[in-house]
Amino acid sequence: MTAAIKTADPNNLEALWMPFTANRQFKKKPRMLAGAKGMFYFTPDGREILDGTSGLWCVNAGHGRQKIVDAIAKQAATMDYAPGFQMGHPISFEFASRLQAILPGDLDKVFFTNSGSESVDTALKIALAYHRAKGQGQRVRFIGRERGYHGVGFGGISVGGIVANRKQFGLQLPYTDHLPHTHLPEKNSFVRGQPEHGAELADVLEKLVTLHDASTIAAVIVEPMAGSTGVLIPPKGYLERLRAICDKYGILLIFDEVITGFGRLGSSFAAEKFNVTPDLMTVAKGITNAAVPMGAVFARKELYDALMTGPENLIELFHGYTYSGHPLACAAGLATLDIYREEGLFQRAADLAPYWEDAVHSLKGKRNVIDIRNMGLVAGIELSSRPNQPTARAYDVLVDCFESGLLVRTTGDIVAMSPPLIVEKPQIDRMIDTLGKAIERAA
Ligand SMILES: Cc1ncc(COP(=O)(O)O)c(C=O)c1O
Repeated sequence: MTAAIKTADPNNLEALWMPFTANRQFKKKPRMLAGAKGMFYFTPDGREILDGTSGLWCVNAGHGRQKIVDAIAKQAATMDYAPGFQMGHPISFEFASRLQAILPGDLDKVFFTNSGSESVDTALKIALAYHRAKGQGQRVRFIGRERGYHGVGFGGISVGGIVANRKQFGLQLPYTDHLPHTHLPEKNSFVRGQPEHGAELADVLEKLVTLHDASTIAAVIVEPMAGSTGVLIPPKGYLERLRAICDKYGILLIFDEVITGFGRLGSSFAAEKFNVTPDLMTVAKGITNAAVPMGAVFARKELYDALMTGPENLIELFHGYTYSGHPLACAAGLATLDIYREEGLFQRAADLAPYWEDAVHSLKGKRNVIDIRNMGLVAGIELSSRPNQPTARAYDVLVDCFESGLLVRTTGDIVAMSPPLIVEKPQIDRMIDTLGKAIERAA
């Protein structure tokens, strides 16, 4: 045993192929996180890093929550795993019921997955199956949006609007098209909250319907607020128009709320905040406070009912994952929902949002800052790019912040911030101070 331990070298970084990381650059100068509690990460040498990003937009209730730790431990000791195909376990039904109680509008059914990417592909498949069940099997086209991020499955990268996926992988699902993104810097710079301009961009869906014919379109999928491509806030009236056009043509509307779900915008879901209910919603991340991987798709009852036809001994939706509704994830999720409710964290985020807004907009005027966008406890601070060196300036800011004790996230030359909903005002001040100094230093 000791021999095995000796041969495993914790300082050898070569075995691991890191996800969404510049591996060679990272391994030359690693940034390691080895512990976490509350609002902080800790480096292996014990340095404190203030978490300005809730990990990856997912640790909404803060780190190391004892209630979640205990729930996971208890469930692991009671029953580690049970198959979810043709068998059930009580905690997955319990968790689905608890989620059902907080779903916006007439969303009603819960299908469990293990990640946001799986949720997206599941929602796309449910949309196809629904149309087939309704005798409209020719509806196979999906409409996504430029600058949309829907995870890394083939469905997700096809409806997503990120050019790197097209450049690196080439192959996409056939029958997809895309709406224009809603980022209009010439009209909407430094807007607080929802911009005034851009609702008319939803009308491009009418053009796509004219081009492809409604009878070929299964669903439109958008993030109500695009997170990963730089915090793009929906213009006033935009989501409402998308909803109306989808209704007019019998097209399903999918909201990808993997980031916006569970309090991030100061409401349980973006659907609630904007008062627009989709037919399907994808979530992950905050559903378990990221303590155990999990995702889910929420569906309107009508979609479920459409599939509950035919002989009762046949599987109605030929889809599922070995770990759908994993007991440990459900235990973590139930404890997470308890914390959200007991501590009123969604309301807390709403109450803090004006302070957050003032704080992030105080960065206006710092060197190279060309736009600032915010909503709930999210902000995007866009920097001008260095000539011929896109992403380099924001990367320098990220490294500088990390060395100064703050975790931020960057995409292109945009710095994204999304702290846990337990953040205190002095911690917000500290984030903005550290980030501001790093921006000033990043020539
Ligand atoms: C909107 C959205 N959809 C899907 C995903 C993919 O989630 P995962 O990384 O859990 O597969 C993400 C991840 O950030 C996301 O932001």
